Amino acid sequence: MNASGLVVPRSQGEEVRQELVESGLFRPDLEILHEGDSLVLPIDAEASEVPPAWGTVVVRDFRPIPRRGVTRYRDLLPWTESEKEALPRSFDVVGDIVLVRLPNELRDRKGEVGAALLRFVPGARLVGLDLGVHGTERLRTVERIAGAGPWRTRHRENGLEFEVDVERAYFSPRLAREHARVAEAVRRGDRVYDLCCGVGPFAVTIARSAQASTITAVDSNEHAIDLLRATLKRAGLERRVRPVHAQLESFLATAEPVERVVMNLPHEGIKYLTSVARTVAPGGRLYYYEVVSRTEFVGRGSALVDLLTEVGAFSVTGVHVVHPYSPAADLVAFEFERSG
Ligand SMILES: C[S@@+](CC[C@H](N)C(=O)[O-])C[C@H]1O[C@@H](n2cnc3c(N)ncnc32)[C@H](O)[C@@H]1O
Repeated sequence: MNASGLVVPRSQGEEVRQELVESGLFRPDLEILHEGDSLVLPIDAEASEVPPAWGTVVVRDFRPIPRRGVTRYRDLLPWTESEKEALPRSFDVVGDIVLVRLPNELRDRKGEVGAALLRFVPGARLVGLDLGVHGTERLRTVERIAGAGPWRTRHRENGLEFEVDVERAYFSPRLAREHARVAEAVRRGDRVYDLCCGVGPFAVTIARSAQASTITAVDSNEHAIDLLRATLKRAGLERRVRPVHAQLESFLATAEPVERVVMNLPHEGIKYLTSVARTVAPGGRLYYYEVVSRTEFVGRGSALVDLLTEVGAFSVTGVHVVHPYSPAADLVAFEFERSG
């Protein structure tokens, strides 16, 4: 059957497939095509929904993988094909909670969509209409559309279990690979700051490997810090992470330089970039996240390095797209090394 596919070099196939799965864009019901040194990954998306950095979108004739049962939640709805086209292809799963965004024209049918997702996602208890994150604490507004129970849950990621409250503290299930990637880079004896830590997925994932000598996790949201404490306690990692309930500004005023600094505050982080960079010791790394428009992607890393010259000598040691953020922008991960 004809469907969209993403052409990627074979060597990057598994990495990009994972990105697509996490973004809800991969089609598990179709076979991956092999074309010379490239793979064509079947996707449920238009070209404009895929960050160009991931590869080229084409149309190919894919072979369906025979499966029992329904492979897309939309197929549980007794709607016409054109009505189903308006449904979002992706949704998020946080613990036993499913979060879905709906276009305005489908809001009065939210109960039907919620019921379909509740049936479709194994182990789902509650389905929330995701009305977006707001304010400096990035709190999510959610409305229950199916199922029951509290917004608090436990989310499993990279073999760890996190205490999460979907309404009271920021958490995104789309950052799992980032949390693991940064944790893997930490070397024995490194001191680490996780700034704007939320419920602490970077800090806890780093703590598990026991490489870091100290890990300090800072957030202004008291609920986030309470959830982090609960996660650490359940995992037996309390002694490896120091949770700090504070405004970044006051923490930075007295912070000693350390070898690894993570700051994931994609919309407002730029306000703090230079003061955060001062806490990176020479030879240390800064992991910085930003929402970048696709037209500015090339060159954004060197523009940030120019900003950092007032602090010291930094160079870009890595840049990649974490996931699409909107039709014209992506969440981008930058890694800087300080040499002096
Ligand atoms: C996008 S969330 C990142 C959460 C976390 N790093 C993660 O990967 O899941 C940003 C966090 O920054 C916190 N925050 C925003 N402004 C802050 C400030 N001025 N000082 C301390 N924390 C702040 C918010 O409360 C929120 O938890």
